[in-house]
Amino acid sequence: MSESETHEAEALPADVIPAATNPGRRLMIAGNWKMNAGGTDGCDLALSIARVAANNEETEVVVAPPFTAIAAVANELYNKKSDVAVAAQNLFFEESGAFTGEVSAPMLRIAGATWAIIGHSERRQLFGESDEAVLKKVVAANAGGLKCIVCVGETLDQREAGQTLEVIERQIGAFAAELAKSGGDGVVAYEPVWAIGTGKVASPEDAQEIHAAIRELLSRVDRDFANQTRILYGGSVKANNAEGLLAQKDIDGALVGGASLEADGFGKIIEIAAKLARQGKSE
Ligand code: PGA
Repeated sequence: MSESETHEAEALPADVIPAATNPGRRLMIAGNWKMNAGGTDGCDLALSIARVAANNEETEVVVAPPFTAIAAVANELYNKKSDVAVAAQNLFFEESGAFTGEVSAPMLRIAGATWAIIGHSERRQLFGESDEAVLKKVVAANAGGLKCIVCVGETLDQREAGQTLEVIERQIGAFAAELAKSGGDGVVAYEPVWAIGTGKVASPEDAQEIHAAIRELLSRVDRDFANQTRILYGGSVKANNAEGLLAQKDIDGALVGGASLEADGFGKIIEIAAKLARQGKSE
């Protein structure tokens, strides 16, 4: 982002507590498998991740398999008494009915999901998901007992046009008040679209600047909600760039795509988060 743009981010109000001093915000590492690992490979991957997670309990770990693998993965994790949670990558906002091809929050709960990723940029860009649909999905997730990871982020064109904060403000504004109703359980993921799957990662400083702006936007709804809400960074996070990002005071975890399909690399990111948590992050 441009210099002028980064400096437009408003300063945090004094009573909004950064993560380094707020142990309530447990670092979260979430793996978005996208349309991959939908068979026994998904179960194997989940079990390998569960083994790493068991030794790094400071980190909250979530995996998001495709719909068809949610029940099998959730069962495997349950049988191994793992704390790794399962997320859906999407949901539909109605509970049931004539909506061919859609899956509802109550169905996902029955399958074993406890989280839902909502408003991922691939949903927004490839499937025309609007801010209004994102809000309806957050409402449906809240009603159906799923915790939300709601994604926001600017495209390259928007970034180059200096519109990053404007876009983020619009996207956050659409759902923040509803997310606040989940009492701090909701999570926001900042994923600059130009960084997703491209190998181009935002610098820790640039990402921190946007995360602070997002926390300020959340504090317009409620200060406690802003303090409690975890804000994940996503976009080409890998074991070799995770530490700098996760060490930032307002980066409370990562939403990992490509690198979450490989147990070793994803496991390293989990270990890095746990190490930072043990060190009190920025001490
Ligand atoms: P990536 O994807 O890590 O492959 O860039 C992140 C995401 O889309 O959530």
